[in-house]
Amino acid sequence: MPGSLSTFGFKVFLILWTLGVPVFAAPAGSEYPMRRVADIFQPLSRPAEMIHEATVLVLMICAAVFIVVTGLLVFIVVKFRRRADDDGQEPPQIYGSTQIELAWTVIPILIVVVLILVASRTIGEIQNMKMPEDALKVRVVGHQWWWEIHYPELGIVTANELHIPVSDRDPEKATPTHLLLQSADVIHSYWVPQLAGKTDLVPNKDNELWFDPYETGVYFGNCAEYCGTQHANMLIRVIVHTPEGFARWVAQQKAPVPAPQTLEEIEGHRLFFANACMSCHTVDGTVAEGVFGPDLTKLMTRQTLGAGVAPITDKNLWSWVKDPQVLKVGCLMPDMQLLDPEVDAVVAYLKTLK
Ligand code: CUA
Repeated sequence: MPGSLSTFGFKVFLILWTLGVPVFAAPAGSEYPMRRVADIFQPLSRPAEMIHEATVLVLMICAAVFIVVTGLLVFIVVKFRRRADDDGQEPPQIYGSTQIELAWTVIPILIVVVLILVASRTIGEIQNMKMPEDALKVRVVGHQWWWEIHYPELGIVTANELHIPVSDRDPEKATPTHLLLQSADVIHSYWVPQLAGKTDLVPNKDNELWFDPYETGVYFGNCAEYCGTQHANMLIRVIVHTPEGFARWVAQQKAPVPAPQTLEEIEGHRLFFANACMSCHTVDGTVAEGVFGPDLTKLMTRQTLGAGVAPITDKNLWSWVKDPQVLKVGCLMPDMQLLDPEVDAVVAYLKTLK
């Protein structure tokens, strides 16, 4: 049956995609290793490493408490079990012991104080870290359900996929990235576990976050604060480039977009401006200056669409333009009710945006 065949094909595609097998044309940054398992126990950036150290210490203290408590419990259950020759008499009863009560009050207080000190020292060290003057500055704005990304000093605007240069393990040679986090609607939270702890994006408040990745790669993260229907599909990719790779990406982002060539591309361009697309999206060098949705100027240099909901392929682009509610139910982009040939044309135009 063709239906089940295409479902099978899609499953094979999904498996290959999950494994990081390049099943479609390579977008920017896909030459780097895919770090899909967002693991706090494999930190690859200073703040993540500091948090990892604190986490291990806290886990060890908790494990020691667990072992002592369960050890005593098991010991008591075994030692004072009912024996065959039990005489049915109650053992001598004890009421009140100043020493014991002091011990089980003071020791837990000391443990909690140590945990507070460990946590607050780590938080303080990370938040008070002085950023070098030349740190790459990026402004990230959380939206339902995507990330707006600005590079104020480079004049680049993009979405969902953050491109930064690799740093160095040696703090003297580090080239960190300094994020300013803001929100356009509700509270979101930016979390890439291998790079840094989560930090909320709160409306009317500026928060900050920084990281200095030691290795290149595509790091995966998520929005970590429930923000509505598609919270789970508000995914993050941080593409950590070699310095040369980052310079290439910057040059690519700043290069002018070629004008549409074929008849279909020109028709798609016309439809893009005749319909409401331009009131929500920006395409540099055109009258499309909408800011409710992602900037589409360099759409085709991205790896995914819909904030990571699907890889950018012809089929997914088509499905998205036809009706975004199929790939991302509840997303704020409406079904534009385009006819199939119109969708073909708009997709052809979008594919020129690179
Ligand atoms: Cu944005 Cu959850």
